[in-house]
Amino acid sequence: MMNEISKKQFSGRLEVMHHLESYVDEVIDKLLKPIETNWQPADLLPDSRDPDFFEKIKNIQESAKELAYDFWAVLIGDTITEEALPTYESWLVGMEGVNQGKNEGWTKWIRGWTAEENRHGDLLNKYLYISGRVNMRELEVSTQYLIADGFDIQTGADPYRNFVYTSFQEIATNISHGRVSALAKKADNIELAKICGIIAGDEMRHARAYKAFVTKIFEVDPSEMMLAFEDMMRKKIVMPAHYLRETGVKIGSTFDHFSNAAQRLGVYTSHDYIQILSGLIKDWNIENISGLNETGEKARDYLVALPDRLKRIADRLKTPVLEYEFSWIGKH
Ligand SMILES: [Fe+2]
Ligand SMILES: [Fe+2]
Repeated sequence: MMNEISKKQFSGRLEVMHHLESYVDEVIDKLLKPIETNWQPADLLPDSRDPDFFEKIKNIQESAKELAYDFWAVLIGDTITEEALPTYESWLVGMEGVNQGKNEGWTKWIRGWTAEENRHGDLLNKYLYISGRVNMRELEVSTQYLIADGFDIQTGADPYRNFVYTSFQEIATNISHGRVSALAKKADNIELAKICGIIAGDEMRHARAYKAFVTKIFEVDPSEMMLAFEDMMRKKIVMPAHYLRETGVKIGSTFDHFSNAAQRLGVYTSHDYIQILSGLIKDWNIENISGLNETGEKARDYLVALPDRLKRIADRLKTPVLEYEFSWIGKH
């Protein structure tokens, strides 16, 4: 298995993770927002104590009628992805070099990040509940399935591979929530545009954090970091909800339909995947990193050539038109 790391690599990673903890403590207040002034789901939803609560719900349901079928498929899939947060937190806590005994350094980061992310699923779920368009029970079944099924992002417990994955994923979620927000705005659904827009903002801030961790690792362990980046790109970055399913459907098959809907809407496409990769190559200054050993150099060559190779393949791909009826969407 490629994600098994040798004893020597393991002790090197532990040393680097340990070394970086003081950096994490130093910057954590810039990477996460103070809890009391941070936005909360309630800021973006009607307050049920207000006398005009039902009027507001009615308006939300009216504007929800304007949104297309694929749009709901994507928004619900995004929500379930966010709601599977327990999977992501436990995966990150399992990384080499994370010690849960103290609430500092990496543990503090993972907990703070989780606490912020937890608002995303919470907010989207409540919006979907009041929208009048969603079969909540079916959505909840999918969420429970996804948490129970977990995922395999092929990083193992290696922090280097994990930080490549999280850097990539936070950018991907920034793009997709941002595009859903733009589509909602286009349909004059201002409340929903705000909801997805504010979540997209968090994802961008989180992306900056994970990218900064990788930059720091490149400074002290360039060849190993390069090999980890190469390995993740050879395996391809899978989406966190790749096991997504509905009642009575086999594992992963709902995910393909969700992903097809996202491509049809242009919310997340294979061109975005390449764009993210190119952005990471640029942000991590891959072409100019020095001090690489021979395998590190080869890994770099592979990575630098990869976006063009993927572009040639993506140009030949057609957007799937296959129609599919999700159990999540529809009238009572
Ligand atoms: Fe999120
Ligand atoms: Fe995120």
